[in-house]
Amino acid sequence: ALPRVYVTRRVPPEGLKILRQSGMCNIELWDSDDPVPRQELLKKVSGVDGLLCVLTEKIDAELLNIAGPNLKVVSTMSVGYDHLSRDELKKRGIRVGYTPDVLTDSVAELTVALLLATSRRLIEAVNEAKNGGWGTWRTMWLCGYELSQSTVGILGLGRIGVAIAKRLKPFGVKRFIYTDVAPRPELAAQIQAEYVSLDELAKESDFLAVCCALTPETQGICNSALFNKMKNTSIFINTSRGAVVNQDDLYNALTSGQIAGAGLDVTVPEPLPTDHPLFELKNCVILPHIASATIATRNAMSALAANNLLAGLKGEAMLKELKL
Ligand code: GLV
Ligand code: GLV
Repeated sequence: ALPRVYVTRRVPPEGLKILRQSGMCNIELWDSDDPVPRQELLKKVSGVDGLLCVLTEKIDAELLNIAGPNLKVVSTMSVGYDHLSRDELKKRGIRVGYTPDVLTDSVAELTVALLLATSRRLIEAVNEAKNGGWGTWRTMWLCGYELSQSTVGILGLGRIGVAIAKRLKPFGVKRFIYTDVAPRPELAAQIQAEYVSLDELAKESDFLAVCCALTPETQGICNSALFNKMKNTSIFINTSRGAVVNQDDLYNALTSGQIAGAGLDVTVPEPLPTDHPLFELKNCVILPHIASATIATRNAMSALAANNLLAGLKGEAMLKELKL
């Protein structure tokens, strides 16, 4: 019998086409735009050989125990992997595919858009124009902060951080600095970025962009200790994972004027409840986790996830395999 594969979401057509045309597996699909309920997922994974999931599914010990020994490969249609219990996967010898690279450009583009929306107060401005606040042209009205002559700090320098810096450079950024668990000389050289401590990053950045993976080391790393070192004129941007930020501390930093503004594409929880205090702040721009959301990129992610899955089922090298 063909290997059984469970696909936890109606992924973009490219990926489904690749799986179907391979003739290599029996596919069962949660054919919806909304996440599969946990109980349904646990029922469906029992005995499967492969799993193609997205970032809303927790792949943990409970699920892997129910899936059982047939499960050889988990392929996630995401670059982030904090929803996967790496230790549990490794213990069972399950291989994991993910989707770096194909989303780098779209995430970098969105990060720049969010940064400018925050620093130039675009959402506030649109609302003022529409809602009668636009009484006349005023000298200091809706004034924000400019990239020209600025220092941009990157927390977690990977492919995405480099792509963001390359896009920001033409705006006249004076200096790029970054921090990470260790210097990344090859990546840093592409953007002439200087390695600094987290302390210095906080103190010197006019714009601080968080681009790291969520790991035990980065969880809550953006907290009051960090915000208190930042300039009152600085802009904080997060397109990585919400849990990298202590949101209560961020709220306090934004309301006390410790920092000038924040742009978030990711929050805890997701969705962020509509009555969350952060939504009341004019200096906080919140997007619903859309950094990779272009038609081309989402199709490329689904194709890569499908090809990773097929390679895993065949016992071949995956295009993008996560080291566990
Ligand atoms: C999106 O957040 C991803 O991890 O791909
Ligand atoms: C702005 O519109 C200006 O003319 O300075």
